[in-house]
Amino acid sequence: MANPQPHVVMLPFPAQGHIKPMLMLAEVLCHAGFRISFVNTDHIHNIIVENIDKSPLSQFPGFRFLSIPDGLPPEHPRDSSSIKDLFTSINSTGKIMFRDLIISLLRRDDLEREEIWHAPCCIIADGIMSTLAIDVEEELEMPVITFRTYSATCTWVYFHLEKLIEQKEIPVREGDEDIDRLVTCITELEKVLRRRDLPSICRCEVDPSILKFFLEQTSKMRRASGLILNTFEDLEAPIIRQLHSIYSKVYTIGPLQALLKSQMDDSPVAGAATGSLRQEDRTCIAWLDKQPAKSVIYVSFGSVVVMSPDQILEFWHGLINSGKPFLWVIRPDLVFGNGPNGLPEEIMCPTNERGYVVSWAPQEEVLAHCAVGGFLTHSGWNSTLESITVGVPMICWPLIVDQKVNSRCVSDIWRVGIDMKDSCDRSTVERMVRVLMEDKDEEIAKSTSKFANLAQKSVREGGSSFCNINKLIEDIRSIQSKKDDCKTK
Ligand code: UDX
Repeated sequence: MANPQPHVVMLPFPAQGHIKPMLMLAEVLCHAGFRISFVNTDHIHNIIVENIDKSPLSQFPGFRFLSIPDGLPPEHPRDSSSIKDLFTSINSTGKIMFRDLIISLLRRDDLEREEIWHAPCCIIADGIMSTLAIDVEEELEMPVITFRTYSATCTWVYFHLEKLIEQKEIPVREGDEDIDRLVTCITELEKVLRRRDLPSICRCEVDPSILKFFLEQTSKMRRASGLILNTFEDLEAPIIRQLHSIYSKVYTIGPLQALLKSQMDDSPVAGAATGSLRQEDRTCIAWLDKQPAKSVIYVSFGSVVVMSPDQILEFWHGLINSGKPFLWVIRPDLVFGNGPNGLPEEIMCPTNERGYVVSWAPQEEVLAHCAVGGFLTHSGWNSTLESITVGVPMICWPLIVDQKVNSRCVSDIWRVGIDMKDSCDRSTVERMVRVLMEDKDEEIAKSTSKFANLAQKSVREGGSSFCNINKLIEDIRSIQSKKDDCKTK
Protein backbone atom coordinates (compact mmCIF):
# COMPACT_ATOMS: atom_id res chain seq x y z
CA MET A 1 0.00 0.00 0.00
CA ALA A 2 1.24 3.53 -0.84
CA ASN A 3 2.40 5.64 2.07
CA PRO A 4 -0.51 7.61 3.52
CA GLN A 5 -0.68 11.38 3.14
CA PRO A 6 0.65 13.15 6.24
CA HIS A 7 -1.88 13.74 9.00
CA VAL A 8 -1.19 16.98 10.91
CA VAL A 9 -2.83 18.18 14.11
CA MET A 10 -3.26 21.97 14.14
CA LEU A 11 -3.75 23.84 17.40
CA PRO A 12 -4.64 27.56 17.20
CA PHE A 13 -4.99 29.91 20.15
CA PRO A 14 -8.76 30.48 20.58
CA ALA A 15 -9.10 34.02 19.19
CA GLN A 16 -10.06 35.47 15.79
CA GLY A 17 -6.63 36.88 14.91
CA HIS A 18 -4.98 33.51 15.60
CA ILE A 19 -7.60 31.15 14.12
CA LYS A 20 -7.83 32.90 10.76
CA PRO A 21 -4.19 32.46 9.65
CA MET A 22 -4.16 28.89 11.03
CA LEU A 23 -7.27 28.05 8.97
CA MET A 24 -5.65 29.53 5.88
CA LEU A 25 -2.56 27.41 6.43
CA ALA A 26 -4.82 24.37 6.92
CA GLU A 27 -6.41 25.07 3.56
CA VAL A 28 -3.03 25.38 1.86
CA LEU A 29 -2.00 22.01 3.34
CA CYS A 30 -5.32 20.43 2.27
CA HIS A 31 -4.56 21.53 -1.29
CA ALA A 32 -1.31 19.55 -0.95
CA GLY A 33 -3.40 16.47 -0.02
CA PHE A 34 -2.69 16.47 3.73
CA ARG A 35 -5.11 15.23 6.42
CA ILE A 36 -5.78 17.95 8.97
CA SER A 37 -7.30 17.61 12.45
CA PHE A 38 -7.97 21.20 13.47
CA VAL A 39 -8.35 21.42 17.25
CA ASN A 40 -10.42 24.31 18.62
CA THR A 41 -11.69 24.90 22.12
CA ASP A 42 -15.34 23.82 22.56
CA HIS A 43 -16.32 27.49 22.80
CA ILE A 44 -14.83 28.35 19.38
CA HIS A 45 -15.97 25.03 17.91
CA ASN A 46 -19.62 25.89 18.64
CA ILE A 47 -19.23 29.19 16.78
CA ILE A 48 -17.35 27.70 13.84
CA VAL A 49 -19.54 24.66 13.11
CA GLU A 50 -22.51 26.95 12.40
CA ASN A 51 -20.64 28.37 9.43
CA ILE A 52 -18.52 25.47 8.29
CA ASP A 53 -20.83 24.39 5.44
CA LYS A 54 -20.07 27.73 3.79
CA SER A 55 -16.32 27.22 4.12
CA PRO A 56 -14.28 25.74 1.27
CA LEU A 57 -12.60 23.59 3.92
CA SER A 58 -15.77 21.49 4.18
CA GLN A 59 -15.05 20.26 0.64
CA PHE A 60 -11.88 18.49 1.73
CA PRO A 61 -12.57 14.94 3.04
CA GLY A 62 -9.17 15.09 4.73
CA PHE A 63 -10.13 18.07 6.93
CA ARG A 64 -12.00 17.86 10.22
CA PHE A 65 -12.57 19.95 13.33
CA LEU A 66 -11.98 18.43 16.76
CA SER A 67 -12.38 20.22 20.07
CA ILE A 68 -11.26 20.25 23.66
CA PRO A 69 -12.59 22.17 26.69
CA ASP A 70 -10.73 25.36 27.59
CA GLY A 71 -11.52 24.79 31.26
CA LEU A 72 -13.80 27.81 31.74
CA PRO A 73 -17.55 27.49 32.40
CA PRO A 74 -19.59 28.06 29.17
CA GLU A 75 -20.99 31.43 30.32
CA HIS A 76 -17.57 32.82 31.41
CA PRO A 77 -16.47 35.78 29.24
CA ARG A 78 -13.54 35.12 26.95
CA ASP A 79 -12.82 38.64 25.69
CA SER A 80 -9.74 40.76 26.33
CA SER A 81 -11.02 41.83 29.78
CA SER A 82 -10.90 38.22 31.00
CA ILE A 83 -7.95 36.98 28.93
CA LYS A 84 -5.99 36.18 32.09
CA ASP A 85 -8.57 33.54 33.08
CA LEU A 86 -8.39 32.02 29.62
CA PHE A 87 -4.58 31.85 29.75
CA THR A 88 -4.69 30.13 33.15
CA SER A 89 -7.36 27.59 32.29
CA ILE A 90 -5.82 26.73 28.92
CA ASN A 91 -2.49 26.12 30.58
CA SER A 92 -4.05 23.72 33.09
CA THR A 93 -7.24 22.02 31.83
CA GLY A 94 -6.54 22.66 28.15
CA LYS A 95 -3.11 21.12 28.47
CA ILE A 96 -4.40 17.86 29.99
CA MET A 97 -7.21 17.64 27.43
CA PHE A 98 -4.85 18.18 24.51
CA ARG A 99 -2.47 15.48 25.72
CA ASP A 100 -5.40 13.04 26.11
CA LEU A 101 -6.61 13.88 22.63
CA ILE A 102 -3.21 13.18 21.06
CA ILE A 103 -2.94 9.88 22.94
CA SER A 104 -6.36 8.84 21.64
CA LEU A 105 -5.40 9.79 18.07
CA LEU A 106 -2.22 7.73 18.34
CA ARG A 107 -4.10 4.69 19.69
CA ARG A 108 -6.67 4.84 16.95
CA ASP A 109 -3.96 4.11 14.42
CA ASP A 110 -3.68 0.54 15.70
CA LEU A 111 -7.42 -0.02 15.45
CA GLU A 112 -8.18 1.58 12.11
CA ARG A 113 -5.11 1.07 10.00
CA GLU A 114 -6.92 1.43 6.67
CA GLU A 115 -8.89 4.50 7.70
CA ILE A 116 -7.87 7.92 6.39
CA TRP A 117 -7.47 9.12 9.94
CA HIS A 118 -4.25 7.24 10.64
CA ALA A 119 -2.04 8.55 13.46
CA PRO A 120 -0.85 12.13 13.14
CA CYS A 121 2.82 12.66 12.35
CA CYS A 122 3.27 16.16 13.77
CA ILE A 123 1.62 19.14 15.41
CA ILE A 124 1.47 22.72 14.14
CA ALA A 125 0.71 24.79 17.23
CA ASP A 126 0.28 28.49 17.80
CA GLY A 127 3.34 29.91 19.55
CA ILE A 128 1.23 30.84 22.57
CA MET A 129 -0.08 27.28 22.88
CA SER A 130 3.49 26.03 23.38
CA THR A 131 2.99 24.85 26.95
CA LEU A 132 0.32 22.47 25.60
CA ALA A 133 2.20 21.27 22.56
CA ILE A 134 5.88 21.08 23.53
CA ASP A 135 5.36 18.73 26.49
CA VAL A 136 3.41 16.41 24.20
CA GLU A 137 6.29 16.60 21.72
CA GLU A 138 8.73 15.50 24.39
CA GLU A 139 6.56 12.83 26.02
CA LEU A 140 5.01 11.31 22.90
CA GLU A 141 7.77 12.00 20.38
CA MET A 142 5.50 14.03 18.20
CA PRO A 143 7.40 16.86 16.43
CA VAL A 144 5.96 20.35 16.93
CA ILE A 145 6.31 23.15 14.41
CA THR A 146 5.34 26.43 15.98
CA PHE A 147 3.22 28.98 14.08
CA ARG A 148 3.67 32.40 15.67
CA THR A 149 0.91 34.55 14.22
CA TYR A 150 2.79 37.81 14.89
CA SER A 151 5.28 39.55 12.61
CA ALA A 152 8.89 38.31 12.57
CA THR A 153 9.91 41.58 14.24
CA CYS A 154 7.52 41.20 17.14
CA THR A 155 8.39 37.52 17.53
CA TRP A 156 12.05 38.59 17.78
CA VAL A 157 11.16 41.21 20.40
CA TYR A 158 9.36 38.56 22.50
CA PHE A 159 12.55 36.47 22.51
CA HIS A 160 14.18 39.43 24.29
CA LEU A 161 11.66 39.80 27.11
CA GLU A 162 14.05 38.33 29.70
CA LYS A 163 16.86 40.57 28.54
CA LEU A 164 14.58 43.60 28.71
CA ILE A 165 13.75 42.71 32.32
CA GLU A 166 17.43 42.14 33.20
CA GLN A 167 18.39 45.50 31.70
CA LYS A 168 15.51 47.21 33.52
CA GLU A 169 14.05 48.52 30.24
CA ILE A 170 10.67 47.23 31.38
CA PRO A 171 8.14 47.75 32.88
CA VAL A 172 7.34 50.92 30.95
CA ARG A 173 5.10 53.52 32.58
CA GLU A 174 3.01 56.00 30.53
CA GLY A 175 4.54 59.36 31.48
CA ASP A 176 8.07 57.97 32.09
CA GLU A 177 10.56 60.70 31.22
CA ASP A 178 12.54 58.36 29.02
CA ILE A 179 9.66 56.57 27.33
CA ASP A 180 11.01 57.74 23.96
CA ARG A 181 14.55 56.45 24.60
CA LEU A 182 15.75 53.84 22.09
CA VAL A 183 16.00 50.26 23.31
CA THR A 184 19.47 49.14 22.32
CA CYS A 185 19.59 45.50 23.41
CA ILE A 186 17.62 44.01 20.50
CA THR A 187 19.87 43.37 17.49
CA GLU A 188 18.63 44.98 14.25
CA LEU A 189 16.17 47.23 16.10
CA GLU A 190 18.66 49.41 18.02
CA LYS A 191 17.94 52.49 15.93
CA VAL A 192 14.20 52.27 15.68
CA LEU A 193 12.43 50.74 18.67
CA ARG A 194 11.70 53.06 21.60
CA ARG A 195 10.51 51.92 25.01
CA ARG A 196 7.12 53.31 23.96
CA ASP A 197 6.99 50.81 21.09
CA LEU A 198 7.52 47.69 23.20
CA PRO A 199 4.60 45.20 23.42
CA SER A 200 1.79 46.27 25.75
CA ILE A 201 2.63 43.42 28.14
CA CYS A 202 5.75 45.44 29.03
CA ARG A 203 3.65 48.30 30.42
CA CYS A 204 3.10 48.83 34.16
CA GLU A 205 -0.67 48.89 33.89
CA VAL A 206 -0.80 45.34 32.46
CA ASP A 207 -1.15 42.53 35.01
CA PRO A 208 2.36 41.02 35.49
CA SER A 209 0.87 37.50 35.28
CA ILE A 210 0.24 38.17 31.58
CA LEU A 211 3.93 38.97 31.03
CA LYS A 212 4.74 35.76 32.90
CA PHE A 213 2.41 33.77 30.61
CA PHE A 214 4.20 35.10 27.53
CA LEU A 215 7.64 34.48 29.02
CA GLU A 216 6.71 30.88 29.66
CA GLN A 217 5.20 30.32 26.21
CA THR A 218 8.16 31.94 24.46
CA SER A 219 10.66 29.86 26.37
CA LYS A 220 8.81 26.62 25.47
CA MET A 221 8.37 27.77 21.90
CA ARG A 222 12.17 27.85 21.47
CA ARG A 223 12.14 24.05 21.66
CA ALA A 224 9.91 23.57 18.61
CA SER A 225 11.51 21.97 15.57
CA GLY A 226 10.66 24.85 13.24
CA LEU A 227 9.01 28.26 13.08
CA ILE A 228 6.24 29.30 10.69
CA LEU A 229 5.51 33.01 10.18
CA ASN A 230 2.82 34.80 8.18
CA THR A 231 5.20 37.32 6.64
CA PHE A 232 7.50 37.53 3.63
CA GLU A 233 11.25 37.82 3.13
CA ASP A 234 11.30 41.21 1.44
CA LEU A 235 9.40 42.77 4.33
CA GLU A 236 11.45 41.50 7.27
CA ALA A 237 14.65 39.91 5.90
CA PRO A 238 17.15 41.16 8.56
CA ILE A 239 14.96 39.95 11.43
CA ILE A 240 14.20 36.63 9.74
CA ARG A 241 17.98 36.10 9.51
CA GLN A 242 18.22 36.69 13.28
CA LEU A 243 15.48 34.14 13.94
CA HIS A 244 17.68 31.54 12.23
CA SER A 245 19.93 31.80 15.30
CA ILE A 246 17.10 30.13 17.26
CA TYR A 247 15.54 27.83 14.65
CA SER A 248 17.32 25.93 11.90
CA LYS A 249 14.04 26.03 9.98
CA VAL A 250 12.10 29.27 9.58
CA TYR A 251 9.24 29.10 7.10
CA THR A 252 7.99 32.56 6.11
CA ILE A 253 4.91 31.78 4.04
CA GLY A 254 2.90 34.98 3.92
CA PRO A 255 0.82 36.79 3.02
CA LEU A 256 -1.20 33.60 3.50
CA GLN A 257 -4.36 34.93 1.87
CA ALA A 258 -2.41 35.80 -1.29
CA LEU A 259 -0.63 32.43 -1.20
CA LEU A 260 -3.95 30.63 -0.94
CA LYS A 261 -5.43 32.59 -3.82
CA SER A 262 -2.44 31.80 -6.01
CA GLN A 263 -2.75 28.08 -5.17
CA MET A 264 -6.46 28.03 -5.95
CA ASP A 265 -5.74 28.90 -9.56
CA ASP A 266 -4.45 25.33 -9.96
CA SER A 267 -7.18 23.64 -7.95
CA PRO A 268 -10.73 22.46 -8.69
CA VAL A 269 -11.78 23.53 -5.16
CA ALA A 270 -12.73 27.21 -5.32
CA GLY A 271 -12.83 29.79 -2.55
CA ALA A 272 -10.50 30.64 0.30
CA ALA A 273 -11.47 30.31 3.95
CA THR A 274 -12.26 33.73 5.38
CA GLY A 275 -11.85 32.39 8.89
CA SER A 276 -14.38 34.93 10.20
CA LEU A 277 -15.98 34.09 13.53
CA ARG A 278 -18.60 36.82 13.09
CA GLN A 279 -21.34 37.48 10.56
CA GLU A 280 -20.09 39.85 7.84
CA ASP A 281 -22.31 42.78 6.84
CA ARG A 282 -21.86 42.93 3.07
CA THR A 283 -24.07 46.01 2.58
CA CYS A 284 -20.93 48.10 2.94
CA ILE A 285 -19.68 46.85 -0.44
CA ALA A 286 -22.71 48.37 -2.19
CA TRP A 287 -22.03 51.62 -0.29
CA LEU A 288 -18.35 51.54 -1.34
CA ASP A 289 -19.39 50.95 -4.96
CA LYS A 290 -20.96 54.43 -4.93
CA GLN A 291 -17.86 56.24 -3.63
CA PRO A 292 -15.11 57.80 -5.80
CA ALA A 293 -11.80 55.94 -6.18
CA LYS A 294 -9.48 56.10 -3.16
CA SER A 295 -11.82 58.50 -1.32
CA VAL A 296 -12.83 56.35 1.69
CA ILE A 297 -10.95 55.79 4.91
CA TYR A 298 -11.73 52.34 6.35
CA VAL A 299 -11.71 52.23 10.17
CA SER A 300 -11.46 49.02 12.20
CA PHE A 301 -9.92 48.15 15.54
CA GLY A 302 -9.90 44.38 15.02
CA SER A 303 -11.63 41.68 17.00
CA VAL A 304 -10.55 42.13 20.64
CA VAL A 305 -9.60 45.73 21.38
CA VAL A 306 -12.07 47.65 23.58
CA MET A 307 -12.22 51.43 23.95
CA SER A 308 -13.90 54.00 26.18
CA PRO A 309 -16.91 56.12 25.13
CA ASP A 310 -14.61 59.18 25.21
CA GLN A 311 -12.10 57.60 22.87
CA ILE A 312 -14.74 56.57 20.33
CA LEU A 313 -16.16 60.08 20.43
CA GLU A 314 -12.75 61.61 19.64
CA PHE A 315 -12.41 59.33 16.62
CA TRP A 316 -15.98 60.13 15.55
CA HIS A 317 -15.43 63.91 15.61
CA GLY A 318 -11.97 63.60 14.04
CA LEU A 319 -13.41 61.61 11.14
CA ILE A 320 -16.38 63.96 10.64
CA ASN A 321 -14.10 67.04 10.82
CA SER A 322 -11.70 65.56 8.25
CA GLY A 323 -14.46 65.80 5.66
CA LYS A 324 -13.55 62.40 4.19
CA PRO A 325 -16.05 59.55 3.69
CA PHE A 326 -15.46 56.69 6.10
CA LEU A 327 -16.51 53.07 6.60
CA TRP A 328 -16.24 52.11 10.26
CA VAL A 329 -16.50 48.70 11.93
CA ILE A 330 -18.10 49.19 15.34
CA ARG A 331 -18.41 45.75 16.95
CA PRO A 332 -21.21 45.40 19.54
CA ASP A 333 -18.50 44.79 22.14
CA LEU A 334 -16.08 47.54 21.01
CA VAL A 335 -17.01 50.14 23.62
CA PHE A 336 -17.22 49.66 27.35
CA GLY A 337 -19.57 51.86 29.36
CA ASN A 338 -23.23 52.81 29.45
CA GLY A 339 -26.03 52.86 26.88
CA PRO A 340 -26.88 50.34 24.18
CA ASN A 341 -23.55 48.86 23.02
CA GLY A 342 -21.88 51.48 25.25
CA LEU A 343 -22.03 53.97 22.35
CA PRO A 344 -22.29 57.68 23.17
CA GLU A 345 -25.54 59.27 21.97
CA GLU A 346 -23.87 61.35 19.27
CA ILE A 347 -23.16 58.24 17.27
CA MET A 348 -26.42 56.44 17.85
CA CYS A 349 -27.57 57.21 14.28
CA PRO A 350 -24.28 56.55 12.65
CA THR A 351 -25.13 55.90 9.01
CA ASN A 352 -25.24 59.22 7.21
CA GLU A 353 -24.08 60.36 3.81
CA ARG A 354 -20.44 60.54 4.67
CA GLY A 355 -20.05 57.68 7.12
CA TYR A 356 -21.16 54.06 6.99
CA VAL A 357 -21.03 51.82 10.05
CA VAL A 358 -21.18 48.03 10.20
CA SER A 359 -20.65 45.61 13.07
CA TRP A 360 -18.28 43.39 11.04
CA ALA A 361 -17.03 43.82 7.49
CA PRO A 362 -15.62 41.49 4.83
CA GLN A 363 -12.32 43.22 5.58
CA GLU A 364 -10.10 41.85 2.86
CA GLU A 365 -12.66 42.67 0.19
CA VAL A 366 -13.06 46.14 1.66
CA LEU A 367 -9.31 46.80 1.65
CA ALA A 368 -9.07 45.62 -1.96
CA HIS A 369 -11.99 47.85 -3.05
CA CYS A 370 -10.94 50.70 -5.35
CA ALA A 371 -12.89 53.26 -3.25
CA VAL A 372 -10.68 52.65 -0.20
CA GLY A 373 -7.66 54.96 0.05
CA GLY A 374 -6.58 54.52 3.67
CA PHE A 375 -6.97 52.35 6.75
CA LEU A 376 -7.25 53.62 10.32
CA THR A 377 -6.27 50.47 12.20
CA HIS A 378 -5.35 49.05 15.62
CA SER A 379 -2.29 47.46 13.92
CA GLY A 380 -3.18 43.83 14.57
CA TRP A 381 -0.79 41.74 12.51
CA ASN A 382 -3.43 40.28 10.17
CA SER A 383 -4.89 43.70 9.42
CA THR A 384 -1.43 45.18 8.88
CA LEU A 385 -0.39 42.47 6.45
CA GLU A 386 -3.73 42.55 4.62
CA SER A 387 -3.32 46.29 4.10
CA ILE A 388 0.30 45.99 2.95
CA THR A 389 -0.69 43.26 0.46
CA VAL A 390 -3.16 45.50 -1.37
CA GLY A 391 -1.12 48.69 -1.00
CA VAL A 392 -3.42 50.65 1.32
CA PRO A 393 -1.54 53.10 3.61
CA MET A 394 -2.35 53.08 7.33
CA ILE A 395 -2.92 55.33 10.33
CA CYS A 396 -2.01 53.24 13.36
CA TRP A 397 -3.65 53.45 16.75
CA PRO A 398 -2.22 50.40 18.53
CA LEU A 399 -3.33 49.26 21.97
CA ILE A 400 -2.50 45.70 23.00
CA VAL A 401 0.05 42.88 22.67
CA ASP A 402 2.09 43.15 19.45
CA GLN A 403 0.31 46.18 18.01
CA LYS A 404 2.71 48.84 19.30
CA VAL A 405 5.63 47.07 17.63
CA ASN A 406 3.73 46.67 14.36
CA SER A 407 2.78 50.34 14.21
CA ARG A 408 6.42 51.38 14.67
CA CYS A 409 7.46 49.12 11.79
CA VAL A 410 4.68 50.57 9.62
CA SER A 411 5.69 54.17 10.28
CA ASP A 412 9.47 54.01 10.69
CA ILE A 413 10.79 50.91 8.95
CA TRP A 414 8.48 50.16 6.03
CA ARG A 415 7.10 53.73 5.73
CA VAL A 416 3.64 52.51 4.71
CA GLY A 417 1.72 54.65 7.18
CA ILE A 418 1.77 56.94 10.20
CA ASP A 419 1.62 56.16 13.90
CA MET A 420 -0.61 57.94 16.43
CA LYS A 421 0.08 55.63 19.37
CA ASP A 422 -0.66 56.90 22.86
CA SER A 423 -2.70 59.86 21.61
CA CYS A 424 -6.41 60.02 20.99
CA ASP A 425 -7.87 63.45 20.32
CA ARG A 426 -10.07 64.68 17.51
CA SER A 427 -7.56 67.17 16.10
CA THR A 428 -4.84 64.49 15.76
CA VAL A 429 -7.32 62.14 14.06
CA GLU A 430 -8.45 64.86 11.67
CA ARG A 431 -4.88 65.88 10.82
CA MET A 432 -3.70 62.32 10.26
CA VAL A 433 -6.69 61.44 8.07
CA ARG A 434 -6.00 64.50 5.92
CA VAL A 435 -2.27 63.70 5.60
CA LEU A 436 -3.00 60.14 4.56
CA MET A 437 -5.97 60.72 2.28
CA GLU A 438 -4.61 63.79 0.54
CA ASP A 439 -1.40 61.94 -0.43
CA LYS A 440 0.70 64.55 1.31
CA ASP A 441 3.51 62.09 1.92
CA GLU A 442 5.09 60.87 -1.32
CA GLU A 443 7.38 58.43 0.42
CA ILE A 444 4.38 56.59 1.89
CA ALA A 445 2.73 56.37 -1.53
CA LYS A 446 5.92 54.91 -3.05
CA SER A 447 6.53 52.42 -0.23
CA THR A 448 2.97 51.09 -0.12
CA SER A 449 3.05 50.33 -3.81
CA LYS A 450 6.57 48.80 -3.56
CA PHE A 451 5.63 46.42 -0.72
CA ALA A 452 2.31 45.45 -2.33
CA ASN A 453 4.25 44.34 -5.42
CA LEU A 454 6.82 42.47 -3.34
CA ALA A 455 4.06 40.73 -1.35
CA GLN A 456 2.43 39.47 -4.55
CA LYS A 457 5.82 38.44 -5.96
CA SER A 458 6.63 36.40 -2.86
CA VAL A 459 3.69 34.02 -3.38
CA ARG A 460 4.20 33.51 -7.11
CA GLU A 461 6.23 30.60 -8.48
CA GLY A 462 9.87 31.07 -7.46
CA GLY A 463 8.97 33.68 -4.80
CA SER A 464 10.23 33.25 -1.23
CA SER A 465 6.90 32.30 0.36
CA PHE A 466 6.07 30.00 -2.54
CA CYS A 467 9.39 28.16 -2.04
CA ASN A 468 9.04 28.09 1.76
CA ILE A 469 5.57 26.54 1.75
CA ASN A 470 6.86 23.82 -0.57
CA LYS A 471 9.77 23.27 1.80
CA LEU A 472 7.36 22.98 4.74
CA ILE A 473 5.22 20.47 2.83
CA GLU A 474 8.32 18.41 1.91
CA ASP A 475 9.61 18.47 5.50
CA ILE A 476 6.28 17.25 6.88
CA ARG A 477 6.17 14.50 4.24
CA SER A 478 9.60 13.37 5.36
CA ILE A 479 8.47 13.28 9.02
CA GLN A 480 5.56 11.06 7.93
CA SER A 481 7.87 8.79 5.88
CA LYS A 482 10.24 8.34 8.82
CA LYS A 483 7.30 7.35 11.03
CA ASP A 484 6.09 4.87 8.41
CA ASP A 485 9.59 3.39 8.09
CA CYS A 486 9.83 2.90 11.86
CA LYS A 487 6.46 1.12 11.90
CA THR A 488 7.43 -1.35 9.17
CA LYS A 489 10.78 -2.22 10.81
C1 UDX B 1 -5.25 40.02 17.83
C2 UDX B 1 -4.26 41.12 18.17
O1 UDX B 1 -5.00 42.34 18.31
C3 UDX B 1 -3.26 41.21 17.05
O2 UDX B 1 -2.39 42.27 17.34
C4 UDX B 1 -2.53 39.91 16.89
O3 UDX B 1 -1.60 40.00 15.85
C5 UDX B 1 -3.55 38.79 16.63
O4 UDX B 1 -4.55 38.79 17.65
P1 UDX B 1 -7.14 41.06 16.18
O5 UDX B 1 -7.60 42.15 17.06
O6 UDX B 1 -8.11 40.02 15.86
O7 UDX B 1 -5.87 40.28 16.61
O8 UDX B 1 -6.55 41.82 14.88
P2 UDX B 1 -5.93 41.28 13.55
O9 UDX B 1 -4.69 40.50 13.76
O10 UDX B 1 -5.81 42.43 12.67
O11 UDX B 1 -7.02 40.27 12.99
C6 UDX B 1 -8.33 40.65 12.73
C7 UDX B 1 -8.83 39.83 11.56
O12 UDX B 1 -10.24 39.99 11.51
C8 UDX B 1 -8.26 40.28 10.23
O13 UDX B 1 -7.86 39.16 9.49
C9 UDX B 1 -9.41 40.98 9.56
O14 UDX B 1 -9.47 40.79 8.15
C10 UDX B 1 -10.62 40.36 10.21
N1 UDX B 1 -11.72 41.33 10.29
C11 UDX B 1 -11.64 42.41 11.12
C12 UDX B 1 -12.82 41.12 9.49
O15 UDX B 1 -12.88 40.16 8.72
N2 UDX B 1 -13.84 42.02 9.57
C13 UDX B 1 -13.81 43.08 10.38
O16 UDX B 1 -14.81 43.83 10.40
C14 UDX B 1 -12.67 43.29 11.20
